[in-house]
Amino acid sequence: SSNQMWGGRFAAGPDAIMEAINASIGYDQRMAAQDIAGSRAHAAMLAATGIITDSDADTIREGLLTVLSEIETGRFEFSTALEDIHMNVEARLKQIIGEPAGRLHTARSRNDQVATDFKLWVRDQIDAAIDGIKALITALIGQAEIGSDWVMPGFTHLQTAQPVTWGHHMMAYVEMLGRDLSRFQDARKRMNECPLGAAALAGTSFPIDRHMTAAALGFDRPSANSLDAVADRDFALDFLSCASICAMHLSRFAEELVIWSSAQFRFVTMSDKWSTGSSIMPQKRNPDAAELLRAKIGRIFGANVALMTVMKGLPLAYSKDMQEDKEQVFDAADSLMLALAAMTGMVSDMTGNRDALAAAAGSGFSTATDLADWLVRELNMPFRDAHHVTGSLVALAESKGCDLPDLTLADMKSVHGPITEAVFDVLGVDKSVASRMSYGGTAPAQVVTQIERWKKVLE
Ligand code: ARG
Repeated sequence: SSNQMWGGRFAAGPDAIMEAINASIGYDQRMAAQDIAGSRAHAAMLAATGIITDSDADTIREGLLTVLSEIETGRFEFSTALEDIHMNVEARLKQIIGEPAGRLHTARSRNDQVATDFKLWVRDQIDAAIDGIKALITALIGQAEIGSDWVMPGFTHLQTAQPVTWGHHMMAYVEMLGRDLSRFQDARKRMNECPLGAAALAGTSFPIDRHMTAAALGFDRPSANSLDAVADRDFALDFLSCASICAMHLSRFAEELVIWSSAQFRFVTMSDKWSTGSSIMPQKRNPDAAELLRAKIGRIFGANVALMTVMKGLPLAYSKDMQEDKEQVFDAADSLMLALAAMTGMVSDMTGNRDALAAAAGSGFSTATDLADWLVRELNMPFRDAHHVTGSLVALAESKGCDLPDLTLADMKSVHGPITEAVFDVLGVDKSVASRMSYGGTAPAQVVTQIERWKKVLE
């Protein structure tokens, strides 16, 4: 038999495969709450504008709450023949309230309905992402405060570069996440226009009040072009691109945690809560959460590319291709929230190994730049010459199998006569980081300033 919602012109029902490829109810049931909120706002507006009676609107709005509670308590039977969440809800409403249910779809199409539902869903996820990022920033600030003056090696090319502070490293991620936060906030502002009332694509001849439904659903305004309203999915792409960039940041940090927790680095001890053992190697404490986080990020990037690809060839306005938007975004959102929560947990519960960090900070000739700077400052050498002299001193230390502070003054003088005992003052890692007082530099005092600034931002 043909479809009860649109079957008027059809003699036969769909092929079973047609039904399978066409149905979205298996996943778009996740938008049930949004669908019902949209329909309730629409019904109230239809009554306020005199398009349906108040009593029908009341019956519809009440009935929709019953449907919602059936869905929320798992008593609802979803039907594939009814394709999607929109028709499942409406069909059930008809069973519950009868004739008035048929008036709900006046001045509306599934095209503006799904655009509205999906926007509401994505908007909720943006809010969740913002909360998740704030929680992670708070955890990072906690670590930065514990070790604002702990020294550790700073790397370029993953080769020892200059000593930095643990707090400075943590706060670097706070800056990245702060930009992620503002990207999500921007996306939210941009997307917050209501598609409802665009109808199928051209608007409607009924005297609807789009400002009323927009306000009822927490939108800033109705979207200004009905074709755009039903055809736009760039709000979802905005979400996916914000999510991708944020995920990239999380993945970089996850990578560092994997490296740092290795026996070779020992920079950090991950909590038991975020580690797993091996079934054969008794000594193992594997950083599985960080690894899985690093891997799950691929789903988010993939969703972004997949939806871009779905959208890129579609003529205006709605095409059924757009039904493929939801699973991508659902999966990406789930992965992002899980990644944010896992990273927040790992960061809160991990312990920086101050001694190992300090030992590593002093190895690898990390204060060579300080030595070169000293030659410039104290002996008035041109920096290029100082660089060369320092390079020779590094080579000497390397040949002796020691670090720069372990060279004797005689060693120093053998390379460059005018060097004095005072040079040893700048070869210590604590002195090195304390001296980097330029704005945004790694000196503990600078780090503390940034911590205080971020605490105010979060208030
Ligand atoms: N399930 C559909 C979707 O997700 C709803 C919109 C259907 N519109 C239509 N004209 N067939 O996109």
